[in-house]
Amino acid sequence: MIGDLSREGALREHAVVGETPNLAARLQALGEPGTIVVAASTRRLIGDLFRLRDLGRHEVRGIAEPIAAWAVEGVSASESRFEAVRAAGLTDFIGREDEIDFLLERQRLAWKGEGQIVLISGEPGIGKSRLAAALAERIVGEPHTRLRYQCSPYHSNSALRPFIAQLERAAAFKADDTSEQRLDKLEALLAIGASRVEAVAPLFAALLSIPSGERYPPLALSPTQQRRRTLAALLDQFEGLARRQPILLSFEDVHWADATSLELLDLTVERVRQLPVLALFTFRPEFEPPWVGLPNVGTLTLGRLDRNDVESMVARVTGGRALPAEVTEQIVVKTDGNPLFVEELTKAVLEAGILVEDAEGYRLNGPLPPLAIPATLQDSLMARLDRLAPVKEIGQIGAAIGREFSYSLLRAVVRRDETALKDALAQLEEAELVFRRGEPPEAVYSFKHALVRDAAYESLLKSRRQQLHSQIARTLEERFPDVVASEPEIVARHFTEAGLVDSAINYWLRAGNLALSRSANVEAVKHLRQGIELTQSQAPSPQRVRKELDFYLALGPAMAATEGFARPEPWRVFSHARDLLGNDSTLTEQMTVLWGAYLAHSMRAEHIAALEVARQCLALGAHHEHPGVSALGNRFTGQTLNFMGAFVDARLHLEQALALCAANQETIASYRRFGTDDQVTALAFLASTLLLLGYPEQSAAAAEQAVSRARAIGLAFTISMTLSQVAFLGTLGGDPQRAAAHADEAITHCAKHGVADPAHRARFTQGALLARSGDPQRGIELMRNAIVAAERRTMYLGHVASAHASLGQPEVGLDLLDEAIQTAEVTSEKFFEAELYRLRGEMLLTLGKRGEAEAGLRRALTIAQQQQARWWELRAATTLGKHWHDEGKYLEAYSLLQPVYGWFVEGFDATPLKDAKALLGELRDLSGTQTQARRE
Ligand SMILES: Nc1ncnc2c1ncn2[C@@H]1O[C@H](COP(=O)(O)OP(=O)(O)OP(=O)(O)O)[C@@H](O)[C@H]1O
Ligand SMILES: [Mg+2]
Repeated sequence: MIGDLSREGALREHAVVGETPNLAARLQALGEPGTIVVAASTRRLIGDLFRLRDLGRHEVRGIAEPIAAWAVEGVSASESRFEAVRAAGLTDFIGREDEIDFLLERQRLAWKGEGQIVLISGEPGIGKSRLAAALAERIVGEPHTRLRYQCSPYHSNSALRPFIAQLERAAAFKADDTSEQRLDKLEALLAIGASRVEAVAPLFAALLSIPSGERYPPLALSPTQQRRRTLAALLDQFEGLARRQPILLSFEDVHWADATSLELLDLTVERVRQLPVLALFTFRPEFEPPWVGLPNVGTLTLGRLDRNDVESMVARVTGGRALPAEVTEQIVVKTDGNPLFVEELTKAVLEAGILVEDAEGYRLNGPLPPLAIPATLQDSLMARLDRLAPVKEIGQIGAAIGREFSYSLLRAVVRRDETALKDALAQLEEAELVFRRGEPPEAVYSFKHALVRDAAYESLLKSRRQQLHSQIARTLEERFPDVVASEPEIVARHFTEAGLVDSAINYWLRAGNLALSRSANVEAVKHLRQGIELTQSQAPSPQRVRKELDFYLALGPAMAATEGFARPEPWRVFSHARDLLGNDSTLTEQMTVLWGAYLAHSMRAEHIAALEVARQCLALGAHHEHPGVSALGNRFTGQTLNFMGAFVDARLHLEQALALCAANQETIASYRRFGTDDQVTALAFLASTLLLLGYPEQSAAAAEQAVSRARAIGLAFTISMTLSQVAFLGTLGGDPQRAAAHADEAITHCAKHGVADPAHRARFTQGALLARSGDPQRGIELMRNAIVAAERRTMYLGHVASAHASLGQPEVGLDLLDEAIQTAEVTSEKFFEAELYRLRGEMLLTLGKRGEAEAGLRRALTIAQQQQARWWELRAATTLGKHWHDEGKYLEAYSLLQPVYGWFVEGFDATPLKDAKALLGELRDLSGTQTQARRE
């Protein structure tokens, strides 16, 4: 929100100030003694704050054109609002009645508590911002809070920049405020909307990069958590404001919004539904809004003005004085109804010196010269800039800084006498090419329109541009530590434009790492990619390789977070980073790369490659005698061996990982930044390994331990991951009730904390359990939608196959099983292989293919025995035993199943053991009779 100017403040700041000190003095002579007389630019600045009396136009010595002047009569009754101020300098609002009616209708709905979003789109200069401002003027008398957010092309990769800027303005930070003063102002601002300021202030302070010193306890959050809580706090703050009084919000130029802001807008669209909020989002046609079609979202597409409207706009710009018909005609034709162009072209024509003014209006000096009226907006803006020749340079320097530039930065770059600088800026203001907020040295200028800035910028020669960008970058470096610390990407951009590649690369890296540390992953990827691109322009050298590695070390985790490990892009990044590792790479660097490479391979079911990376970690751990690295190496090795069906070795490695963790709590904790907690993950994997080795109770105990430790650590991702991992026991035939409970909790937890991967896995488990418990159709749907990674595909296919068999479609099931068995061959993912053959046997039996079925079941037994997977062996033996039972081969069946069952020492409550026991009982009786019969 732009703070309201207090009336007193406005009086002090603006009313007595003329355009330039000179002009002020000359104007003063026009009024009666004691009155204050102002000219056009001051009138614009003070806007509706004062009642003004029109003094008409006056010749002023030293100034070519007659000057319009007003006498100040007193403070007006209208609300003093920034927009009222700003609007007064513009031509009156023209046309667009339907659009205003539409907005007013939405506003009424919104004020009743049915929050509304209106998407306003249209080409540059068509009047989107003006429409939003016009609505604000219309409802100025109704109590409400006005919130304004502005995106800019220079910040489209700076996370939450529009929100940060809004907060800074609303809190009225000053350049020389100390951190303490800023925190005080921030707390005062937050108190308006928040119920517990102390709870959210640390998050806001971090967002605004204000060092909070001792005032708040450290945040101690992971970047992801911090990001999520910040978004939540922003939303809550907003809701708090909305509960006090209705809000009119405009979010301008969404096409330039950064990814995090877009995410926040998504959440806002949701949140406002039951709040008295009217939110206007403006953007150019290239942006495709994701919110179209939602119930509380309306759309307005602004078209060009018609001839009448254009003519009235021209008339407003000329102050009601008529233009020669042929000039008006040309304006109408050339501008084709674009209001910005109409304004600019009319001004360009007035300033061109081809018209003279008389009592009737303007008339041509002579015949209209052929090129007197510029044909494009660009030309017309250029013509106006050129006419401001002496101060044009200041405008150009401003344009090199950006659409907005602060007085302090401009002054530092220009290094010119202050009076001359202020004078130049005042002239730019008077020409309405720039607008100003605040007073120098706090003042911030913005170009009237992005196209004005572009025109000024494009009028610079390339060499001059480079020189300016270099000056700006160096000035920022030397004198603006705040900008360097909080937005290194700005410095990076100027260095890039300056062609100073080395410095640019360093700042992009800083920007990337900063974004990564704030979990602004999308932005991080963009910064890092820019830097990498620049490294490619350097001559190959060991230093370049080193720099590239630095980029890849940050890019990997950022990509993994945005795309997930299983996608080709992060995988490529990590593989490339692995190639870049050199002898001088630190252990941490090597581990960052290996960690990513491991997960990327593992998620893609490239188990052999994953195992190789895991072993490399083990070797590194041993070489550096680093327990953290060794624990991770053992966990990775154990995990992959488990996938590959080498359960005995898997168990050894997982237990080794746990022993290392237990003995080195301190070191291990520092490795948590690699995503997950080793101890928890090792326990969760050990739970499945133990189950398959035939220890259901130890497995359940490990699972419970994993869950309670994850809860103790309290990191959202770790908890979600662990819950879904232990729920996975259900898909291996572990306790279905417990698995269902874990899966449900995992999904709720994931939804609450915005975690994606584990939610998919848990949903798969739900599907598999549902298919077993009698709803195979729905189970298949759930499972199909949840299969996202290549990892565990063998098991996924197996469950879908089995559900199809339950639906009476054994052929479909068999096809899927063939695919699964082949996948197991190709990927070496063998932990579910025995079960695949067993299922195959079962399905063939229903088709009456006894011979083939029996071969399948025997194969299942062999695999299970080789893997020492007693759990699978028991299930295969039970199925084969039942088949033999049905064939009357009781004795064979009994002798097959008895030793397998007899091996078990725990878990007698588990269904597979109960099934086996029941079958054995039956077989014992039957085979007893059979032996009897044979003897007789
Ligand atoms: N209906 C109108 N009546 C009077 N002036 C208008 C009208 N529409 C637009 N203008 C003027 O035209 C200029 C451009 O309008 P505005 O800045 O709103 O365009 P925009 O669509 O927001 O462009 P951008 O996409 O670049 O932000 C402004 O100076 C504005 O005051
Ligand atoms: Mg706009």
